[in-house]
Amino acid sequence: MEKTFALAPMMSITDRHFRVLMRHIFPRLQLYTEMISTGSIIHGSRLDMLDLDPIEHPVGVQFGGSNPNELAFCSRIAQERGYDEVNLNIGCPSDRVQSARFGACLMAEPGLVANCVEEIKSTSDLPVTIKTRIGIDKHDDYEFLADFIMKTSNAGCSTFFIHARKAWLKGLSPRQNRSVPPLEYDKVYRVKEDFPSLHIIVNGGIHTVSAVESHLEKLDGVMIGREANRNPWFMKELSDYYFENSPESPVASREAIVRSYMQYIEEQLRQGVALKTMARHLMGIYHGQKGARHWRRMLCEDGPVSDAGLEVVESALQQVTGMQTFQYS
Ligand SMILES: Cc1cc2nc3c(=O)[nH]c(=O)nc-3n(C[C@H](O)[C@H](O)[C@H](O)COP(=O)(O)O)c2cc1C
Repeated sequence: MEKTFALAPMMSITDRHFRVLMRHIFPRLQLYTEMISTGSIIHGSRLDMLDLDPIEHPVGVQFGGSNPNELAFCSRIAQERGYDEVNLNIGCPSDRVQSARFGACLMAEPGLVANCVEEIKSTSDLPVTIKTRIGIDKHDDYEFLADFIMKTSNAGCSTFFIHARKAWLKGLSPRQNRSVPPLEYDKVYRVKEDFPSLHIIVNGGIHTVSAVESHLEKLDGVMIGREANRNPWFMKELSDYYFENSPESPVASREAIVRSYMQYIEEQLRQGVALKTMARHLMGIYHGQKGARHWRRMLCEDGPVSDAGLEVVESALQQVTGMQTFQYS
């Protein structure tokens, strides 16, 4: 099976605009939505979160929930909307998510997660994958993780994204839970050794091509979160490293990527989407480059103005590239 390169689901980041940008940068990247709670779909309050752009494929929807029937219902809607996969969030440690009985606390209920997988699979054709941690609270022995993987894979899940940290359900904020518990990649490697037929993808703390290389010697893929947001060009470096000179990773400069994303922005502006919601994802694209500060400042200051249009990005681009002014009427 081919190696998987995946974008980690991130609330308030991996909306469809960010995913479209990532698709321009890394044609082979597996994309995921932010976590969407089943309640927000069932009550109709956030159906907009399911909106997709045709260029996003392959793209999975990540659901937060623990009621098998509700998850199955939402998965059918996701299938109708054109998603390629349903991913279950078994890693979020926030209080809100715990009080609704989903996220990381479900690691302690592998039987219930298995029921959810079975129910989704019985009512939709989409593959079901799981994103989880290596443990929760004091359940941090390998056997706890292996038992969770065994029970949920027996129910029909064959792909696992494992954030190589445990989560503390009390006492740490979600943000702290992404940095305080140490990364234990060896546990993820051991899952692959013990369950060789499963597709095991590691997540957490990956920000260099050499780290990706070393994980891929042992595993089936990598999932990258914060680095893709902080420094989106890292994803281009990764794409080029693995797919260079193929149609899957065409030669493109930062400017060329920004210009292709600008075409998307232009279409969306016509539909009434505010510039700031799209331009914010470009902030990091010149990370580490000369002119990056000007670029960010211009997008930050001028992007949020209510009638701001594409000219904001164009003039920021001129600043950073030294190009001639180009007027949009
Ligand atoms: C702002 C933010 C929001 C996140 N939201 C989600 C989410 O909705 N679902 C999820 O499974 N993980 C979420 N995560 C966790 C990431 O998917 C990922 O597991 C974590 O950041 C570790 O990977 P990284 O070191 O590559 O960032 C979020 C992380 C961040 C920084």
